[in-house]
Amino acid sequence: MKTLVAFYSLEGYTELVAGVIATKLGADILKLETVKPFPTKGFAKFFIGGMSSVCKATPKLKNTSIDLSSYDNIVLGTPVWASTFASPINTLLQKHKFAGKKVALLVCSGGPDVEKCLVNFRKALVGNEIVGDINFTEPQKQDKEEVTKRATAWAESLKF
Ligand SMILES: Cc1cc2nc3c(=O)[nH]c(=O)nc-3n(C[C@H](O)[C@H](O)[C@H](O)COP(=O)(O)O)c2cc1C
Repeated sequence: MKTLVAFYSLEGYTELVAGVIATKLGADILKLETVKPFPTKGFAKFFIGGMSSVCKATPKLKNTSIDLSSYDNIVLGTPVWASTFASPINTLLQKHKFAGKKVALLVCSGGPDVEKCLVNFRKALVGNEIVGDINFTEPQKQDKEEVTKRATAWAESLKF
């Protein structure tokens, strides 16, 4: 049973937690990167990323040789963008064969929009078995050790 941790992270937080989980699970890791980077500053950061997610865009990924066929289990990590998952995750779900996996969801947010994001995430993953989810709200304000502890415990609890 092979496990993959696939994630997108604009500002590094989802990446940090995804790394902890991948280490705990002994999983392969796939960091999604877009050909055209999303802005990281000012109004453009929220507007362009937010619109891209709301419009269910599928931004082109730099990762050209994604093959999910050998993975039974996937931890999918995303920041919340405009109350849903970030659009590069949409590219992964739309352009690659994703059905039939056991999936666990990792969501990082800046506010209280996690539930809406999880509802959208689950809808987009119909055809997969969701085995769990975890969210980190305002992670930048949390104690790094506590975050690592929670992420590790969650990874251990997953029924893959
Ligand atoms: C384009 C964009 C849209 C966002 N929209 C939301 C939102 O709707 N709700 C929320 O709680 N946080 C929102 N955030 C904050 C991020 O979800 C949060 O900072 C997250 O921890 C960033 O993860 P990352 O470091 O992996 O990119 C948004 C951030 C960006 C860049």
